[in-house]
Amino acid sequence: MRVAVLPSADEAERHVAALFAAQLRRKPDSVLGLATGGTPVGVYRALVAAHRAGEADFGKARTFNLDEYAGVPPSHPQSYAAYMRTHLFDHVNLSPDRTHLPEGDADRAEDACRLYDALYRYYGPADLQLLGIGANGHIGFNEPGFVSATGGTQVVRLAESTRRANARFFGEGEQVPAYALTMSAGRILQARSIVLLATGAAKAAIVARALEGPIGTDCPASLLQLHPDATVVLDLEAAGALAPERG
Ligand code: GLP
Repeated sequence: MRVAVLPSADEAERHVAALFAAQLRRKPDSVLGLATGGTPVGVYRALVAAHRAGEADFGKARTFNLDEYAGVPPSHPQSYAAYMRTHLFDHVNLSPDRTHLPEGDADRAEDACRLYDALYRYYGPADLQLLGIGANGHIGFNEPGFVSATGGTQVVRLAESTRRANARFFGEGEQVPAYALTMSAGRILQARSIVLLATGAAKAAIVARALEGPIGTDCPASLLQLHPDATVVLDLEAAGALAPERG
């Protein structure tokens, strides 16, 4: 794994956005794997700016998101579909038929997973996959101990710690969904290139565990150590617990 440490979160986000813009210039019909959460917001902001500056053309690209909450329609403000529209899709030249997320409110979530996985196998794998990391080491919504190397897209039960962490995005009295649809870790690792972004001191311990600890399903992000082309982009705070020669 390559590790790039930037002085600030802002610079780390812009660094990652530049990798995506470069990918689009190199291969305009790239398949981009996208992530949600607080961390990538600045990446999307920088990508929208790059698009407006004529440096990122999404016209031929296709996007696949990692995951979606189960039972949440795309119109719900906390759906990942809404997140993507707000932060990226509504501001760049990506037609909706080229953007894909699992259908969170499908009557039968397992069928929605199968369909999503078939689409990904047809168009994918991602040329460049963006990842964040959960405080417990999850990638997508692959929670510690529930990692499938072979499964495609799956319905998973969210860890209580994940539901607590994500409660900040939901309104008072609103419940964080208990289940989600997510690309499996095995599917995520099929991406040609992966860039994981982590910023802030709260991620320092799990980043060190993922990068320097043993590879294991107790820390799903540690599986990235197996990937031949993975880059981890950190700000100084998130790099704070790495061994000195790295951080
Ligand atoms: C979310 C997402 C992940 C994300 C992670 C960290 O729940 N499913 O894709 O990487 O948790 O989120 P944040 O960036 O808000 O810390």
